[in-house]
Amino acid sequence: MGKAKYYITTPIYYPSDRLHIGHAYTTVFCDAVSRWRRLAGEEVFFLTGSDDHGQKVQRAAEARGMSPREYVDQIVPTFKELWRRLDVAYTDFIRTTEPRHVKVVQSIFQRLYDQGDIYKGAYEGWYCTPCETFWLESRLGEEKVCPDCGRPVEWVKEESYFFRMSKYADQLLAHIEANPDFIQPESRRNEVVSFITSGLEDLSVSRTTFDWGVPVPFDPKHVVYVWIDALTNYLTGVGYLQDDEQFAKWWPADCHVVGKDILRFHAVIWPAILLAAGLPLPKQVYAHGWLLTDTGKMSKSKGNVIDPIRLIDRFGADAIRYFLLREVAFGQDARYNTEALIERINFDLANDLGNGLHRSIAMLRRFCDGKIPEPGPAEPMDEALKALADSTVRAVDAAVRSLHLNTALVELWKLVRAINKYIDDAQPWTLSKEGRHERLGTVMYHLFEALRIEALLIAPFLPTTGQAMWEQLGQEGQVLDQGLKAAAWGGTRPGTVVKGGDPLFPRLDVDQVLDELARENEERESSPAQEAKGAQGQPKAESKTTKDEAGSDDGLITIDDFAKVELRVARVVAADKIEGADKLLKLQVDLGDEKRQIVAGIAQHYQPEELVGKTIVVVANLKPAKLRGEISQGMLLAATDNSGRLSLVTLEHDLPAGSVVR
Ligand code: ME8
Ligand code: MG
Repeated sequence: MGKAKYYITTPIYYPSDRLHIGHAYTTVFCDAVSRWRRLAGEEVFFLTGSDDHGQKVQRAAEARGMSPREYVDQIVPTFKELWRRLDVAYTDFIRTTEPRHVKVVQSIFQRLYDQGDIYKGAYEGWYCTPCETFWLESRLGEEKVCPDCGRPVEWVKEESYFFRMSKYADQLLAHIEANPDFIQPESRRNEVVSFITSGLEDLSVSRTTFDWGVPVPFDPKHVVYVWIDALTNYLTGVGYLQDDEQFAKWWPADCHVVGKDILRFHAVIWPAILLAAGLPLPKQVYAHGWLLTDTGKMSKSKGNVIDPIRLIDRFGADAIRYFLLREVAFGQDARYNTEALIERINFDLANDLGNGLHRSIAMLRRFCDGKIPEPGPAEPMDEALKALADSTVRAVDAAVRSLHLNTALVELWKLVRAINKYIDDAQPWTLSKEGRHERLGTVMYHLFEALRIEALLIAPFLPTTGQAMWEQLGQEGQVLDQGLKAAAWGGTRPGTVVKGGDPLFPRLDVDQVLDELARENEERESSPAQEAKGAQGQPKAESKTTKDEAGSDDGLITIDDFAKVELRVARVVAADKIEGADKLLKLQVDLGDEKRQIVAGIAQHYQPEELVGKTIVVVANLKPAKLRGEISQGMLLAATDNSGRLSLVTLEHDLPAGSVVR
């Protein structure tokens, strides 16, 4: 019988110089699942990559005075470096600019066109040329001006190819109904179902307004619009149109892991494309939640940084991996802040895990010459430890298979803590003092056998730590090569000499580490930022003088005061009413390198639907506050006049989310 196999993917990431721990979450998640299944004897294909094309990338490149190709070629190696630093062991990394992929995109596009599932049509509507944005009539008012820039809009028709997605709605619904695990979690599945039942429209799948993309093979003034280009990477990655045998082996994918913001693309558009192309559908799409940053605590002075490379430098990859996998519950959002990370390191890693191992090794050296003894007859407490080790293997396996990785770690840490309690209850030091050598041997054997199993089970999640434990325990070889069968009780040979070593995780002083990070931040930021301000005609000395006076009664602030306010461009991803608060709306915004929730008092001026997709300006370093029980992480900018009308501050031209406003 062949090995079981599993094909898992992350989304392909947009080239951006601001990859953050939210992105890292998805890859670490897929990596842990992959490593666990490999340990369990399965063959795993783990695909990740980069989404090189599109207008967003073209503009980002232009803003830096580079060609799109130069820009992506510069960024993509930094992704690979980050994954390497995080110990992410992918099978392949795909870039959509590779010839192997361009061929797939063009072939699928051609096929759908030939069979009538792609047709030429036109986008029609009110268009603002400078903003390159179509507007709904209802947004324009009498004067027919762009709500963003105030200039006149035009009625235009832009030629575009459309994918006949509507045709596949019934088939897709039937598939979702027949396969309850296809979309997870269930709440997301319900959202997708109601989205489809409310009516699927055909999808625009080409553009003529930019050229950084795959040309439509039969009409090269069009480029394939992002989603057909991006989604088909999952086919290219396992050999579609290049290696039929490899493709037949791996397709359909077992699991696409995505953030909740791109679920619809994966659970509606993607399966519709596959249905049209006559290819089997992936077995599962899992949407995880977002990592939200706690703005208040992210301030420079508190030193809460989210650049993952800096976090890895300071805390090590395994601490970051543990935090991400432990804090994010199935399908839910989670909050990142450095204090919470340090607490996890101190309590779970340094104390429960590291100290447990360290004291066990110290006792073995003191009482048994560092050699694992022969066990005698087991007592109930020993049997209980063995039973817990066995049931932990099963519990972790089940949790990983259902993608509840935080549950997997909770289960594992029950074993970690039970081992520590076993030491306290069995009291090896008393047994040694009283000369009860046989009982001491039994206890030490059980203790070290449980630690060995613990090291093995931890390794897929924390590979460096698992290996270090394995070696400290005197075990040979690579822990992850042992197979899950090595988790069977009794693998430790009596007579094994433990090697010991450094503590796995140092205990950290929260205040000291935060100060240290804050100082580092100041050093990093001082020079370039100051120069930029100087260039705006504010000599430093002069602003210093004004600053000294700012406390007096002239009401003026200095440029340094203003610089304290971090204004950034944000894109509205979702907007909802808040129950019982008729003035407030709850917005989910994309700040480029992070997602946040902002509560704003604009419900009487804007409908939630019209806000989605808007580019706004937010104060990004405002202390978070709770309004009607909803956390608000920042404030948006809006103008009001005497009659109480309100208008959001937007950008004259679209710039990427996260861009600095000053
Ligand atoms: O969407 N927390 O790329 P992307 C958790 N190229 N996950 C987050 C996050 C956060 N704060 N911020 C982003 C794209 N992500 C497309 C995908 S796939 C065929 C094309 C997740 O770089 C986000 O949800 O904007 C998505 O799953 C992934 O990072 C890549 O985002
Ligand atoms: Mg995104």
